[in-house]
Amino acid sequence: MQRTLIIMKPDCVQRRLTGEVLRRFEAKGLKIVALKFLKVDRATGERHYAEHKGKPFFEGLLSFITSGPVGVGVLEGNDAIAVVRNMLGATNGASAAPGTIRGDFSISKQNNLVHGSDGGESAEREIALWFKPEELVSYEIAANDWVDAGV
Ligand code: RTP
Ligand code: MG
Repeated sequence: MQRTLIIMKPDCVQRRLTGEVLRRFEAKGLKIVALKFLKVDRATGERHYAEHKGKPFFEGLLSFITSGPVGVGVLEGNDAIAVVRNMLGATNGASAAPGTIRGDFSISKQNNLVHGSDGGESAEREIALWFKPEELVSYEIAANDWVDAGV
């Protein structure tokens, strides 16, 4: 089982798509282990997107991510990191495949609705950045075998 961090970005909240996004992840078979709703401060935004510091889009990205409330969560499941990335689709909504979240709901490179960790190390780093260990809830989904037997 793997854990990954998601952020339902300000455009996702403003467009009232947070329910639709969580619905998709839940329907896929991922389990919510942490979830919160907040406004991102600049320092946390910079730490989250530290890998992009110095890139031409960095300032715009920081203004965007701090522009309104976001939903931040941790999802758990078989191969969760890749599963979430595949469900998000390509970074640019205009070229993301139909059927993906960005492909179905975004036509923008920046305003692409949802963030997902891009690997094991970033997932670990991002989960620790956004959540205290005790905020990650440990529980079993009843009759989970119907979802992930044989993984
Ligand atoms: P994310 O980190 O948010 O899951 O997105 P990603 O991996 O698909 O894309 P990444 O390269 O990590 O870029 C981070 C976010 O920065 C914004 N962006 N804007 N204007 C631009 O050229 C540009 N490029 C990237 C997007 O919001 C992207 O998701
Ligand atoms: Mg990224």
